[in-house]
Amino acid sequence: MSSAERAAYLRREIERHNYLYFVEESPAISDSEFDKLFRELVDLEEADPSLCTPDSPTQRVGVTPIQKFEPHRHLVPMLSLDNAFGGDEVRAFDVRVKKGLGVEGDVAYECEIKLDGLSMSLTYVNSVLVTAATRGDGTTGENVTPNARTVRGIPFRLEKEVPGTIEVRGEVVMHKSVFEELNRERAARSEQVFVNPRNAASGGMRQLDSRLTAVRKLNFYSYGIGAVQTSAKLPGTQYQLMQWVKSLGFPVRKEEKLCENVDDVVKYCESVQAMRPSLPFGIDGVVVKVNDIAQQEALGFTARGPRWAIAVKFAAEQAFTVLEAIEWQVGRTGVVTPVAYLQPVYVGGVTVSRATLHNFDDLSKKDVRVGDTVIVQRAGDVIPEVIGPVIEKRRKGAKKPVAPTKCPVCGSDLVEQEGYVALRCPNSKSCEAQVHAKLAHFVSRGAMDIEGLGEKQIERLLELGMLSDVPSIYRLKDKRDELVKLERMGEQSVTNLLAAIEESKKRPLDRLIFGLGIRFVGDRTAADLAREFGSLENLRRADYDKLISLEGIGPKVASEVQEWFEVEENQAMLDELLSLGVSPVETEVSSEGVFAGKTFVFTGKLERFERSVAERLVMKLGGKAAGSVSKNTDFVVAGPGAGSKLKKAEQLGVRALSEDEFLKMLPEGSL
Ligand code: IVH
Repeated sequence: MSSAERAAYLRREIERHNYLYFVEESPAISDSEFDKLFRELVDLEEADPSLCTPDSPTQRVGVTPIQKFEPHRHLVPMLSLDNAFGGDEVRAFDVRVKKGLGVEGDVAYECEIKLDGLSMSLTYVNSVLVTAATRGDGTTGENVTPNARTVRGIPFRLEKEVPGTIEVRGEVVMHKSVFEELNRERAARSEQVFVNPRNAASGGMRQLDSRLTAVRKLNFYSYGIGAVQTSAKLPGTQYQLMQWVKSLGFPVRKEEKLCENVDDVVKYCESVQAMRPSLPFGIDGVVVKVNDIAQQEALGFTARGPRWAIAVKFAAEQAFTVLEAIEWQVGRTGVVTPVAYLQPVYVGGVTVSRATLHNFDDLSKKDVRVGDTVIVQRAGDVIPEVIGPVIEKRRKGAKKPVAPTKCPVCGSDLVEQEGYVALRCPNSKSCEAQVHAKLAHFVSRGAMDIEGLGEKQIERLLELGMLSDVPSIYRLKDKRDELVKLERMGEQSVTNLLAAIEESKKRPLDRLIFGLGIRFVGDRTAADLAREFGSLENLRRADYDKLISLEGIGPKVASEVQEWFEVEENQAMLDELLSLGVSPVETEVSSEGVFAGKTFVFTGKLERFERSVAERLVMKLGGKAAGSVSKNTDFVVAGPGAGSKLKKAEQLGVRALSEDEFLKMLPEGSL
């Protein structure tokens, strides 16, 4: 046998064993026998590089870096899924499906686990992998083909001849064991560890050097197909389709199940929840799909995703760990909250070492003590929280925590505010923690957006006495010489910083209102206030009755806003800001614009605008931007991740638009 023949034989053998290992999950040879075959092929290719074909399995270790990722427009958009929480919502989905199809009997569903990784689109032309792309904004992703070629479970060539084009979709994940191994190695090298397997996988897929992707040992599992331009005949059910995809050489998870009716689906969800800890990778729920493809086609899509599928999300994940300490933290408004310091524990997709304990009342009710084994919970992206102690594991003599009487930062006597459980430090003017947090909030992106004035910089300038309160930001221009002398500053960065500060003087009114850091006034309430009052002058004079009469403003917010403006110090601070040249741009409202009389609600992640920018645009064109959907809403503009607001719009029959459709409504030149 010539070396060329031997190399060809080894390539076939290695791919066959890869298939048996990753797709069939029944390896025919040991790992070391496999390594021997692999090594032999590497040696042959090294001795004669002409033997190394692009589809050689040795190419899975990556190739030389590329400059940047090219955009890849998906042949068929990659949409998202609606969510359901719990059995009742799954049954409600089943009712919607039956209504949509006009059937009374059972509908069969194909159910799968929902892998927690990143979605990947793989295009094969005449059975050969030509493009691998990320989801991106659903319409256009990034071409990451060299990286995908290092991922286990992505065949370079299909096992069967499929003429024309077929797009296979699925999820790239990092196995928990790989995640732990890589983090052990990184910690040993004093490198930053990965937060969770999903981040490690998606970061891995976005490396310009595919050799760096290869070392992350990622896996691909398929969950469906996208574009189909082939003469091959495709099966008529989702279940058979997945078997067909498997026969092409893709791993399909064996947890997949065909359920005859919704009762079986609910049982399946429970069974998956039970097996969740023992699965080799993270999952965040179950995906339920109408099995019959003809029925899928009859149901079609909404702006967000298919009507024939739903993601059933699991309740928050919990874990046990030890409470090592309780510390008291002072926030922007002086509220003092207990923070739990925990022995690091992996829960809900991240390693948690700090969690909130809300307030002292909550802490007492839960009766958690330092040294306790506690239950920690994390759901989605919310801050992890301590649920409670495991009393049986409490060591003798564990003491109840005591509420502080003095501010842990400035030492002032803490006060209890009527109607609130929180303790507060009243020293808003000079408590370092509060001043720092206030400044950081004022300059943050959603507020005055002053680039170059980050957390660290603020801390340093506070320490040096160059900053003391919000107006002092606008006095920094008189301290140019001192600033230039600071370490890591220099002429250019000082020029940039001072320019950014100057520029911020003309931010829109809502940004300034948000930046003031009034309790309960988030960016949306700030936008409502700016719209209703039009100018800072009017808002400064606002009384409770006027505030409470506004849509979206309740008694808690109204009294907090009124009280804030009643404090003399705050009024003095505003005067000072105005005298230093801060002159917020008042929201222009045109009653003749194309959106006059129309109310918009934006929800989900917008790709082209920041939400506040889109809202301001609507207002400029005469419309209204609201925070919640009601029968008065005319349009809901939904981006990826839209949830309950979009659902409500559908229930109320409010028109839902994609971001692209919204863009098309804008008159030329309005952007
Ligand atoms: S089906 C039209 N099945 O979840 C969308 N998606 O929330 C059809 N995912 O972008 C997707 N496991 O990346 C489907 N078994 C599974 C899945 C799954 C994970 C991801 C996928 C999608 C996202 C939707």
